[in-house]
Amino acid sequence: MAEHILEPFIGKDIISEKVKELGERISKDFKGEKVLLVGVLKGAWMFLSDLAKSIDLETEISFISVSSYVGEKTTTSGVVRLMCDIDRPLEGKNLILVEDIVDTGLTLNYLKKLLSVRKPKTISICTLLDKPSRRVAHINPDYCAFEIPDEFVVGYGLDFNNMYRNLPEIYKLTIKK
Ligand code: IMP
Ligand code: MG
Repeated sequence: MAEHILEPFIGKDIISEKVKELGERISKDFKGEKVLLVGVLKGAWMFLSDLAKSIDLETEISFISVSSYVGEKTTTSGVVRLMCDIDRPLEGKNLILVEDIVDTGLTLNYLKKLLSVRKPKTISICTLLDKPSRRVAHINPDYCAFEIPDEFVVGYGLDFNNMYRNLPEIYKLTIKK
């Protein structure tokens, strides 16, 4: 069996500091307005729950579920599938898509196209992590906690093969065959 090596990458305190900062920026930018946070499942669940606590606005929360990885892989298949749609109407809303990580950008490119048809007032992207060196689609997050190099990371919601999502901090994963 392959051995998984986890090395600490981003610690708890710095995560909570940065997430709080993002929440405060969003609160400032949308002052006097309502927002709809849409978490991209499953990776964004822990980030969204912390982010939402530091947003001082009338806030709706929903989720959307997509899938682009097949089995035990650390790179996207490039084909994004909608697994479960948002349960709220989007028309006239300030939609904020909340992602764990922007890698190739294909997932958010797909979601932006899918959701813009429903006429939200604004669409913004808020991501915990960004790997800009891997970008294929033109996606620029409006809010980003950390830019990281091309490493595969897990924890704080992010997984490998559905594992490690519950870790409270972010680790670099190396797989030894
Ligand atoms: P993209 O469509 O290539 O931008 O990929 C986005 C999705 O791939 C993210 O929402 C993650 O679920 C997953 N992903 C990309 N890089 C990583 C990583 O380093 N660790 C865990 N998941 C990742
Ligand atoms: Mg994701």
